[in-house]
Amino acid sequence: MVPPSAPRLLITAGPTHEPIDAVRYLGNRSSGTLGLALIDAGVRAGFEVTALLGPGVANPQSEAPQSEAPEPEARIERFRSAEDLRTLLVEHAPASDVLIMAAAVADYRPRLSPGDLQSKKRRTDAGLTLKLEPVPDLLAEIATTRRPGQFFAGFALEPREELLESAERKLLRKNVDAIVANPLETMDAGDIEARILTRETEGVRVVALTDGPVSKAEFATRFIAWIGEHRDTADSES
Ligand code: CTP
Repeated sequence: MVPPSAPRLLITAGPTHEPIDAVRYLGNRSSGTLGLALIDAGVRAGFEVTALLGPGVANPQSEAPQSEAPEPEARIERFRSAEDLRTLLVEHAPASDVLIMAAAVADYRPRLSPGDLQSKKRRTDAGLTLKLEPVPDLLAEIATTRRPGQFFAGFALEPREELLESAERKLLRKNVDAIVANPLETMDAGDIEARILTRETEGVRVVALTDGPVSKAEFATRFIAWIGEHRDTADSES
């Protein structure tokens, strides 16, 4: 059983699907693997975990072997579009102690006309032009509601040569406590070699949790442990 006083961890994972019409969407190749590893690590570390999962991300619990002493489980909620995720974040973030925003949220979505979601666009020889509009930055938006004691972390997937500069810009622009900076190649790899950028009173600090690439499961375990320690230190300093 998760103790009643367990800290609450909210994790988002997987892609968003942005509708074009009633049957089509624009998506991305995120598998949600790292997010699932974080959910598992969070549950094992004693957090009360709520997971917001995107389309195509397997429910981590449906295939878990049944044991005699059931493990505490994560509460799972589903989103499709960035707008669904936005609604779920507004619902769940206020009661969370930690938010890890691992979802690959779309940056652009088709601008819809009335009725688009109730019909299917027909094929014509003239082709089809989609007008895309920017998706709000959900992490930056929810970070404006962050209260003292809450810890919000996001991810940055960047070309290796500009990894730390871009991640630092995201840390400051999104106004979060930490950004996990990943080289672009991480997307398709089993391993991860991430650096964590945090905001400290003396400026931005870069933390390496591992000496080199490790499995996503190993990284997730270390990152969750690091958040636990980091939160304890921040609490005792405030
Ligand atoms: N993110 C978000 N809302 C968006 C896009 C991204 O909340 N519309 C979150 C992601 O979940 C991730 C972080 O922001 O935690 C970084 O996402 P990324 O796509 O790397 O950065 P962007 O803000 O989209 O910036 P850019 O397109 O310049 O890389």
